[in-house]
Amino acid sequence: MRVGVLTGGGDCPGLNAVLRAVVRKGERFHGDEIVGFEDAWDGVMERRTMPLTVESMRGLLPRGGTVLGTRRGSPYDIEDGVDRVQATMSDMGIDGLIVVGGNGSLSVASKLFTDCGLPVVGVPKTIDNDIEGTEVTFGFNTAVQIATDAIDRLHTTAESHVRVMVVEVMGRHAGWIATHAGIAGGATAVLVPERPFDIDEVCDRLVRRQQRGRYASIVVVAEGALPREGTIELADREVDRFGHIRLGGIGHLVAGAINERTGFETRPVLLGHVQRGGTPTAYDRVLSTRFGVAAIDAVHDEAWGQMVAIRADQIVRTPLEDVIGRTRTVDLALFDGVAQVFSA
Ligand code: F6P
Repeated sequence: MRVGVLTGGGDCPGLNAVLRAVVRKGERFHGDEIVGFEDAWDGVMERRTMPLTVESMRGLLPRGGTVLGTRRGSPYDIEDGVDRVQATMSDMGIDGLIVVGGNGSLSVASKLFTDCGLPVVGVPKTIDNDIEGTEVTFGFNTAVQIATDAIDRLHTTAESHVRVMVVEVMGRHAGWIATHAGIAGGATAVLVPERPFDIDEVCDRLVRRQQRGRYASIVVVAEGALPREGTIELADREVDRFGHIRLGGIGHLVAGAINERTGFETRPVLLGHVQRGGTPTAYDRVLSTRFGVAAIDAVHDEAWGQMVAIRADQIVRTPLEDVIGRTRTVDLALFDGVAQVFSA
């Protein structure tokens, strides 16, 4: 078969490992030719391709980012965009298209399947771990490890200076990174989008800790965390040309509010895209490889409109239409029962 593959949305450690697995299984076991489309849907519409072979993929397993390049955006936003996608598929003889992406790219894939019967298979990707239908996405484990390493480092400087460090991590709609890194890093408070936070409660917690003789503290805040109404005023957020709200900055507000209310010297630290860069952890390399193998196998089974996923450590398939437009939020038993308890 001639199989196309693209990577869409924000990048994520493990994308190259998925591509490598698709190519290895496709070329060596199925006798496929794999065509990489550059820069997500743009490459499909503009027929910008890169041949992907076992040879050309050598050494890419541990490499962060994506050799194909990635973009946000949809052919639906462009006049005749969908026609161009269909024309590329038929003119280039592409028998199936693997779409490695987050909610945005998977929604486009699902719509193209439903509207025009485009033969697509989805692979879920995001460091935020917020895609429905799968218990984990690759990139998440790496992001948690990076955030945890940062928190470990911040502990020592916080203790030396007797400060509160407010660490802002990614997680626009779901606080998975904050919850896991907060637990792993021994944070005093973890703030997530799923549970609007009361800054006075956070401060009480820091004060109680100080009264017990512990002066330095770490507060982990997800970029999408929301203060309870009437407590901290959020500034209007910038929206990019794809309607994607640019988050980042809640850590500064939280740090300022803590300092103002408690008098504790407080510093914000914004981890930002460091969490998305660099080499994937061993866990993410394995997951990406399993997803890549499962995706090319799904193409050969003509499991169109399906996404590969992992549940109870088994690779499964799930319809894209059941996944899109939904957010897999944090397990509240984990957040309330563990993150909140141990950080109290
Ligand atoms: O969707 C993943 C994500 O890493 C979010 O957590 C974050 O808000 C966003 O991407 C940042 O996107 P950009 O690369 O456009 O700044």
